[in-house]
Amino acid sequence: MPTVTLTASGKRFDAAADETVLEAAQRAGIALPYSCRGGVCGSCKATLVEGECSYPRNPPVALSASARAHHAILLCQAVPCGDIAIQAREIASVEDIPHRRVETEVVERRALAPDVVGVWLRPLAGDRLNWLPGQYLDVILDDGRHRPFSIASGPRPDGRIELHVRHVPGGGFTSWVYESLHVGDRLTIEAPLGTFVPREDSERPMLFVAGGTGFAPVKAIVEHFIALGTRRPMHVYWGARNVADLYLIHLARRWTEESAWIDFVPVLSDPEAARDSGLREGLVHEAVLADYPDLSGFDLYMSGPPAMIAAGRERFVAAGLPEDRLYFDSFDVAPDVLAAILRGRAGIHGL
Ligand SMILES: Cc1cc2nc3c(=O)[nH]c(=O)nc-3n(C[C@H](O)[C@H](O)[C@H](O)COP(=O)(O)OP(=O)(O)OC[C@H]3O[C@@H](n4cnc5c(N)ncnc54)[C@H](O)[C@@H]3O)c2cc1C
Ligand code: FES
Repeated sequence: MPTVTLTASGKRFDAAADETVLEAAQRAGIALPYSCRGGVCGSCKATLVEGECSYPRNPPVALSASARAHHAILLCQAVPCGDIAIQAREIASVEDIPHRRVETEVVERRALAPDVVGVWLRPLAGDRLNWLPGQYLDVILDDGRHRPFSIASGPRPDGRIELHVRHVPGGGFTSWVYESLHVGDRLTIEAPLGTFVPREDSERPMLFVAGGTGFAPVKAIVEHFIALGTRRPMHVYWGARNVADLYLIHLARRWTEESAWIDFVPVLSDPEAARDSGLREGLVHEAVLADYPDLSGFDLYMSGPPAMIAAGRERFVAAGLPEDRLYFDSFDVAPDVLAAILRGRAGIHGL
């Protein structure tokens, strides 16, 4: 059985046959970063210091040729070929919270925007769930497939779990939520998941960049820092097509009224909608860079659609943001769908 050594902490764990580094670490109770679990977002990028890995599942499409040449690996896909040593970020704060499967009931359902539904779940009687702000859950479908959604709130005494679900055209689960989900329906979930969580070991100002329903985990993390009474400046940017898609703009504006440490910049990609509303026009990551061309002094949290994450990652790092201070969740489709899409591409391109 191959052994994986983390060079920073010296921790070691074994990987079973065909197990990815991420799966083996999770089994050993060690939290390494991840988001899409499909090999496309790059949030699980680490450096292979010794040994070799293979990619028997999805190809590591999030790695450029140059990153691979510099021994970068994707923890969610890399399977050790023997003993390996890796340099990877550990996120100790999420390690202590057990990951569980829980039955829940829909206690509220409300349209938030033309294609966004707010869903509030509560574990069935007597059960409780714990998580860190910014983490996500998997909804387990009847056939066992998983659908990931960020939790838009921190844990609350009444047990409510808030989700912001965008309707994906042609999407099985989100279409059902949009058209048929009712209060009283039952959903099985697995949680908590993910490593997009507040980092409190810093005094740096924070930038938050959300795209569409990427506002959900950003909301949870900002509310956490507000509750802590932090005096670190928080600059919140939220990008969407039009005003209706900024479905909690009043909440973000209230943050700025209640805290001298927060400012909020809504950004609309539709030029006509921007003109009509008087809001800033353009792409949200461009707005951040126009306001803060040097990002070397910030911690940056970003979540939203894959295209925004990919563009933001590259440009923010080029603007001086150290990669290990860029925290993100990329709202990719679920791992089974990603795998099917990548298999389809491989068939077309003979990869
Ligand atoms: C960490 C994380 C957190 C997330 N948080 C949120 C959130 O808070 N809010 C939110 O709205 N979204 C979130 N997402 C995205 C959300 O998980 C997806 O939108 C959801 O899984 C779509 O499920 P679905 O069953 O409706 O669509 P699916 O049925 O999975 O289909 C998705 C898309 O893929 C296409 N597709 C399906 N199968 C194939 C195939 N074989 N080949 C080609 N195309 C195919 C479909 O036509 C559709 O366009 C998150 C994603 C991740 C990874
Ligand atoms: S590429 Fe591994 S988690 Fe996204």
